[in-house]
Amino acid sequence: MAHKFSRLVLVHLFIVLMHLEPFVVSEEPQVPCYFIFGDSLVDSGNNNQLVTASKVNYPPYGIDFSEKASGRFTNGRTSADLIGLETVGVVSMIISVSTSHSMITGEHLGFDEYIPSYAVATDEQINKGVNYASGSSGIRDETGSHLGERISLNMQLLHHDSIVSRLSNLQHDTTFTNKCIYLVNIGSNDYINNYFFSDYYNTSRIYDPTQYAVILIEQYSEQLMTLYNLGARKIVVFGLARIGCIPAEIGRFGTHGKLCVDPLNEAAKIFNNKLKSLVDELNNIYSDGRFTFINVTSISAPQGDIPFPNEPCCQVREDWQCTPNTDPCRFRDLSLFFDGFHPTEISNILLAARSYTRLFTTDASPWDIKHLSQL
Ligand SMILES: *[C@@H]1O[C@H](CO)[C@@H](O)[C@H](O)[C@H]1NC(C)=O
Ligand SMILES: *[C@@H]1O[C@H](CO)[C@@H](O)[C@H](O)[C@H]1NC(C)=O
Repeated sequence: MAHKFSRLVLVHLFIVLMHLEPFVVSEEPQVPCYFIFGDSLVDSGNNNQLVTASKVNYPPYGIDFSEKASGRFTNGRTSADLIGLETVGVVSMIISVSTSHSMITGEHLGFDEYIPSYAVATDEQINKGVNYASGSSGIRDETGSHLGERISLNMQLLHHDSIVSRLSNLQHDTTFTNKCIYLVNIGSNDYINNYFFSDYYNTSRIYDPTQYAVILIEQYSEQLMTLYNLGARKIVVFGLARIGCIPAEIGRFGTHGKLCVDPLNEAAKIFNNKLKSLVDELNNIYSDGRFTFINVTSISAPQGDIPFPNEPCCQVREDWQCTPNTDPCRFRDLSLFFDGFHPTEISNILLAARSYTRLFTTDASPWDIKHLSQL
């Protein structure tokens, strides 16, 4: 076993070295601005002021983050934070032992500060971008409503509309918004906190999984077109993770002898395939639009290969969020999940690295974020 493991690490190192590029510390970010839309996977504190069970501005969230319990749903930084930075900490190379792949984390977009959340962004800050993401939100407006207030994707787009107006008063360059990167990571809650929460929502009684994916993608399509019409040209669309392998979902549904909850993974797969097709279609419709799809299931470790159990790192309450002021696990870099739903920072580092610089063509297509930012 030990022998097999060290051979694997050697193979990893080899792949890493093959991908290693000269380490450049650039002064300017790759793009002038970076806007973030989505749910708790990328929320940086927009829910702190809302009346909702879905907010996490308390310890142990943020235990490994300089800004502590900022409202991020993890122990450190989100994937959107990490994609925005210049380098990811002192370690510029990480060998992921949790997958049979390797990756490097070198240069990313190169901003020297985190993109401010919409709730607190000032006029001086918005010209570098805004983070509109909101925990428990979805493509559909009603998604997450049993948890309380949230900012749905439709509402996030309205917020962006108002920011674009504010920007047009501040910026002389009318093509400014065309140059930014737009990251959108949403849809998980349309399943977890809607379709598969049938005590409260009736979508699963109206639609089968294929029909549901179709109506979600129709709505998402309109939302991405709205984003384009507000000036976005470089748009990164994240697919869904294996939502059936999330500890909270395994806890709720059981796996019936499997590793994960298969119906959830099946539904996510249908959605992801349609989302990938939508991205291709939007690239055909808009000759100057550059949409790209990030295949999160390609990047995250296949279940079964994982040498660690996928249990939450922190002590969780009944709702699978961390119990306030309790000590989380010590070796957080060996844990995939921080609470019952959300990845640890180490998982986010892996996702950020391979969506920025893809290792396989399936990770990001047609472009990874690095190439998208250079187009
Ligand atoms: C679904 O639920 C909503 C309220 O949550 C209700 O307005 C609607 O009539 C329901 N639809 C069906 C078909 O039951
Ligand atoms: C994501 O990547 C996996 C390979 O790891 C592939 O099987 C799957 O079809 C991809 N999904 C999409 C929507 O492209």
